[in-house]
Amino acid sequence: MLRPTQLTRDSDPILIEALRPILNASLPYLTKSLGWMSAVEQHRWWRTEDHARVKVFLWRDDERPWEPVAFSMITDHGDFASPFFAVARDHWSNGYGDAIIKHYIETAGKPLRGQQLVSNGAIRKLNARNGWVVVRKSTALWTNPDIEYLEHPGPTTTFPDYDAILKGLDG
Ligand SMILES: CC(C)(COP(=O)(O)OP(=O)(O)OC[C@H]1O[C@@H](n2cnc3c(N)ncnc32)[C@H](O)[C@@H]1OP(=O)(O)O)[C@@H](O)C(=O)NCCC(=O)NCCS
Repeated sequence: MLRPTQLTRDSDPILIEALRPILNASLPYLTKSLGWMSAVEQHRWWRTEDHARVKVFLWRDDERPWEPVAFSMITDHGDFASPFFAVARDHWSNGYGDAIIKHYIETAGKPLRGQQLVSNGAIRKLNARNGWVVVRKSTALWTNPDIEYLEHPGPTTTFPDYDAILKGLDG
């Protein structure tokens, strides 16, 4: 079974380092152009990151707990949160995407906003079936035409079925 370990400011640096190869390998698939990070740069980022706003998880499978298979990151922006995650290349197509998306939606606990590349067929499929809605596409000449902007309402709260309960009380 796939499980997340939350990384905190005080986590052993070797755990932060474990997510670096997955992060660096995911760069070509992201809507923002981030640079390749060295261990030193990542360590510096981790020490200075606002951990009250950003939650990061390293994912492993119980069968092989020594092997990082994915990371996920959720950033709180006040009214909304935004996610970022990647699965290690050797573990693509193992069906991990849905569980990670469901987890970051629950962790956010509020509406979300995000972006996806039109050319990233896997993430478009995963996002659509997990409740993300495309609200806008890049149209301006100076923006990347490959980007779609997305919104998600956040976790759905299931309230008790009060009608059924009251009907039961009426006999
Ligand atoms: C996007 C990503 C997370 C998908 O990981 P994955 O392990 O392959 O995901 P899953 O196995 O859970 O599911 C992928 C689904 O997309 C489908 N798929 C794969 N490539 C596809 C494509 N080009 N077009 C359409 N669907 C595609 C798969 O068949 C699968 O569908 P299924 O579950 O109905 O069979 C992974 O490719 C990745 O980490 N990419 C780099 C980082 C990234 O894009 N992050 C997302 C933006 S924050």
